[in-house]
Amino acid sequence: MISRALKDKFHREYMTFFEHAERSRRWNLFDDIDWEKVKSEPRNDKLALCAETFMGVELYLPDYIEGHLSLFRDNFARAWFGANWGYEESKHAMTLWQYLVRSGHRTEDQMRDYSDRILSKKWNKPFGTGREMTAYGCAQEMTTFVIYKKQQMLAEAEGNHTLAAAYKLIAKDEMAHAQYYMTIFQHYLDDDREGALEDLSSVFYGFVMPAYELVPDYDSRVEVMRTAGIDRGVFLTEVWGPVLKRFKLTRHDLPRPKRVRAALATDAQEQRAP
Ligand SMILES: [Fe+2]
Ligand SMILES: [Fe+2]
Repeated sequence: MISRALKDKFHREYMTFFEHAERSRRWNLFDDIDWEKVKSEPRNDKLALCAETFMGVELYLPDYIEGHLSLFRDNFARAWFGANWGYEESKHAMTLWQYLVRSGHRTEDQMRDYSDRILSKKWNKPFGTGREMTAYGCAQEMTTFVIYKKQQMLAEAEGNHTLAAAYKLIAKDEMAHAQYYMTIFQHYLDDDREGALEDLSSVFYGFVMPAYELVPDYDSRVEVMRTAGIDRGVFLTEVWGPVLKRFKLTRHDLPRPKRVRAALATDAQEQRAP
């Protein structure tokens, strides 16, 4: 149970987030992307496969929303954020879907089959508390931002300007989500630094991108996904780097995860034993 003071801070942050979204970040997938242009652009199967894979990750939206609301059902600001966030994420999947069909890389039927296959599996939230899932949100949203930004550059370089324009709009949302989660997590740190650092550490050491392993034919996508440019090094410098910097932390400020400390304690005990 969080304190009233923390709840009030979350409320103010949500109002700021929502006002900014309404006044300056909203976009319309039907009007703000020049879909006419897409037909004259070069076919690019590699970028289309990436778009389909990322769209697949976005398609687990019902599970993400359920996971979020199961933690924040009784907290106005956090629950309303979940509703607004869900709307924005739904647009990301629909935009990439539209791109794949309008560019001729996939048919509408193929997309419907794909979404059925996606939804036949369920994503479960990887952490059990609101504070841990907030730390997870910082890294997850920053990862999606980095991925979409890299895809935007690639698409631009290869003459797929419509796809680049779509990624640009989506990436802006992802950065806003990452900023929101970091602002909220900073309040958790101010409220209970030791406990929040513990949670940040368990997420840092246990992070996996949501639903990657659930996307159909994931193994055959791996090679293409390498072109997305996310490896461990990028993940540490471009995802965790800015997240930890925002909290004025380095990796060395994070306590070792509980399971590592427990293993070390057992080792020490065994060494002491006669
Ligand atoms: Fe998204
Ligand atoms: Fe997002």
